[in-house]
Amino acid sequence: MRAIEAAAAPVAETQLQNDWNTALPYEKISGPSRLTLIKDSLPGGKFTTLNLGDVMEQYRQQYGNIFKMPGMLGKPETVLVFDPKDFEAIYRTEGVWPFRPSLETITYYRRKVRPDIFSTGGLGVEQGKEWAEFRAAVNPVMMQPKIVKQYVPQIDKFMDEFIVRVKKIRDSNTYELPENFEEELNRWSLEAICIIALDTRLGVMGKLDKNSKEHEFINAVKRFFYLISVLDLKPSMWKVFPTPDFKEMMRVLDVITDFSFHHVDEAKKRLESQVNTKSEKEQSVLEKLIKINPKVATIMATDIVMAGVDETSSAVTTVLFTLAKNPDKQEILRNELRKILPEKDSPLTPQNMSNLPYLRACIKESLRVLPVVIGNSRKTGKDLVLKGHKVPKGTNVLLVSAHTQVDERLYTGGEKFIPERWLKNQESELSKEAKSVSPFTFLPFGFGPRMCIGRRFAELEIEVFISKIIRNFYVGWERPDLKFKTVGINVPDGKLQFKIKDVEN
Ligand code: HEM
Repeated sequence: MRAIEAAAAPVAETQLQNDWNTALPYEKISGPSRLTLIKDSLPGGKFTTLNLGDVMEQYRQQYGNIFKMPGMLGKPETVLVFDPKDFEAIYRTEGVWPFRPSLETITYYRRKVRPDIFSTGGLGVEQGKEWAEFRAAVNPVMMQPKIVKQYVPQIDKFMDEFIVRVKKIRDSNTYELPENFEEELNRWSLEAICIIALDTRLGVMGKLDKNSKEHEFINAVKRFFYLISVLDLKPSMWKVFPTPDFKEMMRVLDVITDFSFHHVDEAKKRLESQVNTKSEKEQSVLEKLIKINPKVATIMATDIVMAGVDETSSAVTTVLFTLAKNPDKQEILRNELRKILPEKDSPLTPQNMSNLPYLRACIKESLRVLPVVIGNSRKTGKDLVLKGHKVPKGTNVLLVSAHTQVDERLYTGGEKFIPERWLKNQESELSKEAKSVSPFTFLPFGFGPRMCIGRRFAELEIEVFISKIIRNFYVGWERPDLKFKTVGINVPDGKLQFKIKDVEN
């Protein structure tokens, strides 16, 4: 098996042992009781009236920076942590095969409902050796910047089409984008990810028949993320009996799986005959994956299409929104872009994209102030002491970073959008501060061997999208601030009526 990414430096055994011997017992970690959880899950309770992230924050204010959510209805007990020092302790001891508890509904679906086609559960479902072998097979294709960058010209060309579309659909008097712009963005990211993962143009921009498979797929992905929050993240009865939400989840997963498998099969038929005639350099991501193992290729491509739509469009929304709210920063970015794109329709290339520090700082800062994910999870890889308590190896832990990463005590102007703090060559107090804050505070794509495998794809898509939009348009926001809601990931909770006016030159 090829080596996967190096895990974090291990922590000295003797230190762990000493801390352990003097720590408080696990049972002393406080937290809401089962009864409280049931009460908070009933209609009108916290879980139905508040965002999941806000429920966690309320519990944190009540119980402190570590608390336990009791196991119930077949879900295991989980310890929630909020301190970057504890994030670091967990990541540094996760080992080379980190265990991230998988979503139980999708695991059930792949193992029990469709084992005929899922010979392996894929990265999101498998653990241990099975996960490591899959990850080692796909890592060299998915995580290599050189391979991903070959898609810049295609995504750039697609972006030119999107710009024409945006001009067409905006209101010709107010310049506002239409109420359904979120759907346009979802279609944009589906089209973009299929260019990368399936070597195919779906052609979903423009008029899309409401009865089409593409429309059904996009809606299914939306429902999938919503149902994760209901069935996997909040207390739910589905393990006791198949609730209507659970039945819908199984239907939604059928739609997603059938759509992806169909397109992967089509792409495979097109490509399989050519794989051996192309040089290594000419081969696409899918061709490379097929060459490694056709079964791995199908499951990986399915996961790419499934994970690559809502997360990326949500990230693009947060970057656009923060730039719209900060026109001065937007202008600095536009000036950086003018240097590599002298004309509004100048093409992006892997070469000219290599020098865009302000763009990257804007994206990083947007993901800090408006995160797409509220945190990450693991099973602890060793006995650990967290906030003075023993937490045994194999405990489910949720590392909640959404509030920590905007904490004023760590980042001056915590909730403010200040991309300059991430510029490496700056000697300002803010950038010195950002360098001194623990990197474990803010890990939008996770950490270590198990970090997001789609990171390079997502970054490429976001960078191309934002570059072309900001080079072409002044993006404004004149409505009450956009809100976000947590449905598995954070997604916009409102209409994306950005105002876009053409840049003169
Ligand atoms: C801005 C967009 C995205 C964000 C913020 C994001 C975030 C994350 C995070 C936090 C994890 C958990 C990492 C860990 O456990 O340390 C993850 C895992 C994963 N992501 Fe993403 N992701 C994004 C886009 C994508 C895309 C476009 C794809 C598909 C190409 C993708 C596929 C995956 C997969 C398959 C995993 C599981 C990896 C494993 O367990 O080995 N993600 N992502």
